[in-house]
Amino acid sequence: MAVSFDDIHRAATLLKAGELVAFPTETVYGLGADASNADAVRKVFAAKGRPADHPLIVHIGELSQLDRWAREVPEFALKLARQFWPGPLTLVFKRDPRVPDAVTGGQDTVALRVPAHPLAQQLLRAFGGGIAAPSANRFGHVSATTAAHVREEFGDTVACVLDGGATEVGIESTIVDCSGEAPALLRPGMITPQQIEEALGRPLAEARRRSPRVSGSLDKHYAPHTPLMQMEGDLVVELAHSLTRQGKRVAVLARTALQPLIEGLVWKAAPADAAGYARALYASLRALDRAGCDAILVEQPPDEPAWLAIRDRLNRAAAGSGGN
Ligand code: TXA
Ligand code: MG
Repeated sequence: MAVSFDDIHRAATLLKAGELVAFPTETVYGLGADASNADAVRKVFAAKGRPADHPLIVHIGELSQLDRWAREVPEFALKLARQFWPGPLTLVFKRDPRVPDAVTGGQDTVALRVPAHPLAQQLLRAFGGGIAAPSANRFGHVSATTAAHVREEFGDTVACVLDGGATEVGIESTIVDCSGEAPALLRPGMITPQQIEEALGRPLAEARRRSPRVSGSLDKHYAPHTPLMQMEGDLVVELAHSLTRQGKRVAVLARTALQPLIEGLVWKAAPADAAGYARALYASLRALDRAGCDAILVEQPPDEPAWLAIRDRLNRAAAGSGGN
């Protein structure tokens, strides 16, 4: 059912009252709280089961609100914001003293993003302030790209889920650290390093280690519960045969490999282009996970710039279970 003006208004009222609201962004769904209300922000950590020192992204309605949250905005960051906001890009700044510790995990920096999704925009406008929101999944799970996924994750513990259908980008935003001398990539996303460097007119710097902390950079992330392995297409088919012969149940996320005739094999063909693949990825992983197999075999995407962020998420999924 379409989201009405009343729904947006009710969601904004809940945020003002310190309650949680899940809402779509163009990347993945977020679990939002009033970013200036530390108690409300703590509810996000409790609902997710996320450690309190993992910082959240603050979503704002427009570029002009940046100064309320960031105390230093270098020229190179403005270039990126002007070019990519609203959009799937998060920028990390030295924080304004008014940003609660609960949001930043006590760090001296804050992550900011202006999302492009019309419902996120309407919610931000109705609410007026910043919305602190991590991806709307329990810590250790795959991010949610539909309202139904959010319900799967949280049941009725989240009072309000704005349903904007399936998200367009499908994986989390690109994160660029703008709190140091030079911009550095902290998390790849569908806005590629090449696009960022082109906008900057200079190369990205190496990300500094440990600080600022990015829980999304831990190895164990974005994983389904079923063990997941990546390999080339012919190996997928070979391994599917041999595991099945051993009495195991196998699920496959294929790109180019042709489906072999194996009884009980769970097979999903992924879109051939990177944008389509990213859009479908988390829903596919959830579906394959639900099939209750012993293994998920993923046909490895190409080692090309457009696939960088997808390969990053698949590598984390293969590394073990966990998400943030
Ligand atoms: O697309 C997205 O970015 C989604 C939507 C909802 O906006 N959000 C999202 O949030 O992916 P989350 O919390 O799942 O991941 C945010 C990442 C985390 O890895 C966190 O560590 C990092 O952003 N982060 C937040 N604040 C930071 C800071 N001050 N310095 C460095 N990294 C930060
Ligand atoms: Mg997350």
